[in-house]
Amino acid sequence: MTNLSGKDLDTHGASTGERARSNIFIKIIGFSLGLTLVFTLVTQLLPQVEGEAPVERRVDLDSLTMDAFVAMGEDLFMNKGTCTLCHKPPPLGRAPDIQGMDMVSTSAKRLADPRYQGEAKDAAGYIHESMLDPSRFVVAGWGKKGSNDTVSPMPAIDKPPIQLSAMEIDAIIAYLQAKDGNEVTVSLPSPEAAAEVAAAMPAAGGVLSASAATAEETLGKYACSSCHAMDSADVLVGPGLGAVGARLSEAEIRQSIVDPSAVIVEGFPPAMPLDFAEKMTVKELRMIVTFLAEKK
Ligand code: HEC
Ligand code: HEC
Repeated sequence: MTNLSGKDLDTHGASTGERARSNIFIKIIGFSLGLTLVFTLVTQLLPQVEGEAPVERRVDLDSLTMDAFVAMGEDLFMNKGTCTLCHKPPPLGRAPDIQGMDMVSTSAKRLADPRYQGEAKDAAGYIHESMLDPSRFVVAGWGKKGSNDTVSPMPAIDKPPIQLSAMEIDAIIAYLQAKDGNEVTVSLPSPEAAAEVAAAMPAAGGVLSASAATAEETLGKYACSSCHAMDSADVLVGPGLGAVGARLSEAEIRQSIVDPSAVIVEGFPPAMPLDFAEKMTVKELRMIVTFLAEKK
């Protein structure tokens, strides 16, 4: 764990409490000042919250140890990989709570399932296949609505918007094996491969560091399209946003993003991540709100 910034890993443990506190804060002023003012406040607070002062993160390539590789996998799982958007403990989770499950013994169960038709032979193979070809085997009860567990709502994570490299995928497998004390069966990347990825890795917060330049880039950065079809009304995890501007005002769209619990669309689970307001810059929020409002 020494080579990667411990801070980023730790803040995840603390963020629920902080979020709870900030939610109470928002509710209290919400009562007295009214929602519109709160949104103005939230918007003005944003740049200070996730400022433009990134924390430096370095991977020491000459001495990349398995511990560091596992830590990198955990970081990718939490940040750039966006896995925790869906994979979190019930009741908020929109997918199996794989951080709370021993994925090595779970994989053995999946491979022994009579419905299993994939090509994996072991845990690493199963986890790899689950990430790149999620519909190959759909965990019972978690399939896309109406698909009778034949189609997975999980996006292939080697494709945009998530687009992890082969090395990053291995790091996540290493993390999922190591977190329960299982033997790590993926090998460490060559120093050359590691150097390439480290060079491409933003200085801080994985993919969530640099401010996005366009609305499209912002939607990719926060993986909105993992859960929303952007050009149609197709239902993924959330409603299609193809014509969201015809149904919601700009203020309502902004509210859906910064305070998703305020209105839950009928027939959908409350699955919108709650921390976009903490993570987005003012400019990013403004760009996507305008972009979505124009979708009519
Ligand atoms: C948009 C939501 C979503 C995102 C993002 C997502 N997943 Fe999934 N994932 C699912 C769902 C739903 C399932 C269960 C259905 C299935 O079997 O595909 C699943 C299944 C899995 C499984 C198999 C679990 C089991 O119990 O057999 C693994 C492993 C997995 N995901 C890993 C990942 C990793 C690693 C990431 C991040 C790089 C990720 N997922 C991102 C929704 C998501
Ligand atoms: C993990 C899945 C997930 C992610 C990621 C996600 N959303 Fe959502 N979103 C949902 C779900 C589920 C709903 C419907 C339930 C609700 O209202 O909270 C929703 C609702 C919405 C709505 C209201 C739609 C309507 O018809 O009223 C908007 C707008 C929206 N999301 C925008 C976004 C944007 C922009 C992002 C990225 C910054 C994003 N969402 C990321 C799951 C997600």
